[in-house]
Amino acid sequence: MDQPPPESRRTGNSRPYELAEPSLVGPPLPGEVFVAETVDKVIDLLAAELVVQAVACQRQFGDFELALSGGSTPQPLYDRLMYDPDCRQLPWRRTHLWLVDERCVPPEDERSNFRLIDETIVAHSDIPPEQVHPIPALSETADVEYEAELRKVLEWRQRGQDRLDFVLLGMGADGHTASLFPHHDVLCERGRLVRCVEAASAEPPRRVTMTFPLINAARVVAVLVTGAAKAATIRRIVQGSESIDELPIMGIRPGRGQLKWFLDAAACDAIEPP
Ligand code: 6PG
Repeated sequence: MDQPPPESRRTGNSRPYELAEPSLVGPPLPGEVFVAETVDKVIDLLAAELVVQAVACQRQFGDFELALSGGSTPQPLYDRLMYDPDCRQLPWRRTHLWLVDERCVPPEDERSNFRLIDETIVAHSDIPPEQVHPIPALSETADVEYEAELRKVLEWRQRGQDRLDFVLLGMGADGHTASLFPHHDVLCERGRLVRCVEAASAEPPRRVTMTFPLINAARVVAVLVTGAAKAATIRRIVQGSESIDELPIMGIRPGRGQLKWFLDAAACDAIEPP
């Protein structure tokens, strides 16, 4: 039977192999998979999901605990959150904004993750300054300080709800996520929520990162992956023959939460429809 043209194929959404148009076939990754033809369309889906989650959490808990990643991939999402009228419902005044990880550079350094978020979101939203939580990346005890700050804010929540509501992750072509790099002992961390790490393969090598226990406790973990440079890594995850030590992103398995992948066609073009 002939393959239908790509734009009329099915997409991965909560059930990757169900008919739904217009759409693409999503790879069978753990969790829900959302695939769209272009980066712009993936950002549509992710921005809508983020707004829905934020509004629901504000209603249920009175606040929204959001952790964002750096890197280049999420930049169009952050821009979209600021200019798209459909995103205006996002309750920034009730949001606590956290960083998933930070590079140990001064805040004005162009490699600073907080700098990106500060310039694109904080400066253009009405989020109260005391609800913005940059990682004190230049402090020797940054991990201890950031964990204490997280605990202090989250302990206001009812037990069981004292967790991050939405964690946005990216993924490197080597399979790292946050600053959880392959073959690093931080991948075995079971107790601490934040760790300082030194990873020779990273630039800059010194980082501060949320750990698996904190990320995997979140209500929703969204992984945004776009571009052909990541397609081979997505294929390795689907193949499933490698360990978390080799492919740290495979350690993302929210225990009481949802895992959602947001991919453009280029990032998963190696996956053939069934
Ligand atoms: C960082 C990130 C990191 C990032 C990936 C993907 O500070 O480097 O938080 O985990 O998400 O490296 O980066 P790109 O989006 O630039 O490909």
